Amino acid sequence: MVTDLFQADQRHVWHPFTQHAWWPDDDPLVITGGQGVWLQDSAGQRYIDGFSSLWVTVHGHNEPAINEAIARQARTLDHSTFLGFTHEPGIRLAEELVAQPPSLLSRLLRRRRLQSAVEAGIKMAYQAKLQQGQRRPLFVHVAQGYHGDTLGAVSVGGIEVFHHTYRPILLRTRMVSSPGVRQPGQTAQERAAQVLDELRILLAEVGDQVCAIVIEPLVQAAGGMLTHDVSFVQGVRALSTQFGAYLMVDEVATGIGRTGRMWAVEHADISPDLLTCGKGLTGGVLPLSAVLATEEIYSSFLGAGDRTFFHGHSYTANPLCAVAALANLELMDERATVDHAAWIGRTLGDLLKPLDDDERVVEIRRIGTMTGIEVRPHGDRTGLRICTAMRDLGVITRPLGDVVILMPPLGIAEPELQQMASALNHGLDQVYGAAS
Ligand SMILES: Cc1ncc(COP(=O)(O)O)c(C=O)c1O
Repeated sequence: MVTDLFQADQRHVWHPFTQHAWWPDDDPLVITGGQGVWLQDSAGQRYIDGFSSLWVTVHGHNEPAINEAIARQARTLDHSTFLGFTHEPGIRLAEELVAQPPSLLSRLLRRRRLQSAVEAGIKMAYQAKLQQGQRRPLFVHVAQGYHGDTLGAVSVGGIEVFHHTYRPILLRTRMVSSPGVRQPGQTAQERAAQVLDELRILLAEVGDQVCAIVIEPLVQAAGGMLTHDVSFVQGVRALSTQFGAYLMVDEVATGIGRTGRMWAVEHADISPDLLTCGKGLTGGVLPLSAVLATEEIYSSFLGAGDRTFFHGHSYTANPLCAVAALANLELMDERATVDHAAWIGRTLGDLLKPLDDDERVVEIRRIGTMTGIEVRPHGDRTGLRICTAMRDLGVITRPLGDVVILMPPLGIAEPELQQMASALNHGLDQVYGAAS
């Protein structure tokens, strides 16, 4: 039965970010169930979901309160368009989200499909400036950045292996270096200052054409959990204001508590003009993303018909997704999930401390629960081989190249965190040899 399933998979499915010439040999698991922080495969093996199913799961899998909210909503109203009509789940979610800090953000647009939040934000920024009498067709972004796979999002991406193929068909952008890639001996603050200098020079040259600066605040997640100093986020805020460009922060990965604060920008104590979120918004259960925009941006769209924001999707603000998000936010409040996330981060930090001096490890990067362990290459696809070996001790995760990611669901407890650390040590021993 599983063999049949996998054969059908190979015949019909095209998986994301997957080299299908390698896929059959990569021993992919068929996942059949999820409960709390655990996933189960078709052979009945249980694994801790060590990367929150690609950074989305908040409390855990099969969370009764979220399931019940969805089931209740499905019996009342499964879907109704948000174009020309409205509905309570969509309205309530907008109300809830804008009540979260940073308080300067006051308007919400909801997108049913992930990654379209960044796409919507880009268009919104361009149109807002245009309606304020400024034609600014240029976007500034950061090397090693990742914002999704639609063409606008790819335009502001900076991971060459993912993005270079599409450069000829993208928006006009200028890219600055990554604040997370430091030279040997350079501190995070020095690196932040260096990239801010680069940005200042760039803006002095083309600042009057720049519509928005797009960053992932504090952690460039897909770039390899590259972390940077808060002074970078603060400096970009100041420079965007100085040069009349919007600051758009993409909190799709960092938001909803992952860094130990609700939003990563809270660490830097700044307010952006646009904030995008997704992933954990529904607790990691249904796809939903959102753009939060300032009142100033919103009001520039009021007036004549051609000031309308011509952007949307069939499933914008889908009620099932909206109630899942509302249930998630309520649970986060009840369970003080953001504080627990900060505790998870500290605990993971302590558990991984012994690896600081391990010669197999290049660097451990972590902010809150977002953790990347960069390992020394040792043969082909070292990161993936370590992750595969971690399954022996009941943990699954995915690497980003040679960076092993640990980013557990925010409902995790100490014994499972210890199991994750043991599994990582086991994976390292298996790949490098226990004696090394
Ligand atoms: C910062 C950031 N933005 C956008 C996205 C795209 O989100 P999705 O994969 O849900 O489209 C991701 C995905 O990892 C991300 O990390």
